Amino acid sequence: MDSKRLKTVSSFLRENDYFADIGCDHGLLALYAFELGIRRMQLIDNKEGPLNQAKTNLAHLADQCDITFTLSDGLTSLKPDIEVIAICGMGGKLISDILKRDLEKAKSLKRLILQPNTQIPDVRKFLSSAGFAIIDEAIVKEKRKIYEIIVARYQDTYGQLSKEDCYFGPRLRTVRSLLFLEKHQKRLAQINKILNEPLSANRYRELFQEKTMLERELTSLKEIENES
Ligand SMILES: C[S@@+](CC[C@H](N)C(=O)[O-])C[C@H]1O[C@@H](n2cnc3c(N)ncnc32)[C@H](O)[C@@H]1O
Repeated sequence: MDSKRLKTVSSFLRENDYFADIGCDHGLLALYAFELGIRRMQLIDNKEGPLNQAKTNLAHLADQCDITFTLSDGLTSLKPDIEVIAICGMGGKLISDILKRDLEKAKSLKRLILQPNTQIPDVRKFLSSAGFAIIDEAIVKEKRKIYEIIVARYQDTYGQLSKEDCYFGPRLRTVRSLLFLEKHQKRLAQINKILNEPLSANRYRELFQEKTMLERELTSLKEIENES
């Protein structure tokens, strides 16, 4: 098994990080972390099946690496000296809820590496409202699906992100990669199609606002391309 998505997540880890993977499932991210030189990890999952799968998949590392497997919910049983966490492959609401439930722990971490599958703008909105800064981001395509990765740290800076920053990603919108364009052009085409169907007034307004924001961002990209 190989995953470009999780390999990109692992690129935000550093060799000496004491790292925890929340919702570890198969344990593949820990394998990438080991390849990067990380030798202390905590793998957490709230279901026995996935945690046992991770134990089996990582058994060959047992004598080279200090790995703790923990059956627990979110950050509840996070070891006190963990410095960096990843929460990947879950819905954005679940990721935000996990962080909200243990906000003080989340604030004490050196880095949070988050990869929400859905509601990505809401995760950025939550981070910004809780005083976290987005220190890095990545966008990656795996099996025709585009994923966004957000790296955050508590910096006591509240409400720093605009609506556009939350939607597009403050870092991603400055880098303006081809994948970024692909994702948002696709969404714009999808919205244009939906707007031709019968919709409630609220839904129409919501989608029209999203469309306007997308057009503004994509037009500003074109202008920059033309200037360079
Ligand atoms: C879809 S898998 C993603 C696995 C892996 N992180 C990835 O990105 O490929 C989500 C995993 O998170 C676990 N999970 C869901 N909610 C959780 C929670 N509150 N605390 C810990 N683990 C959770 C599930 O049991 C499942 O193994």
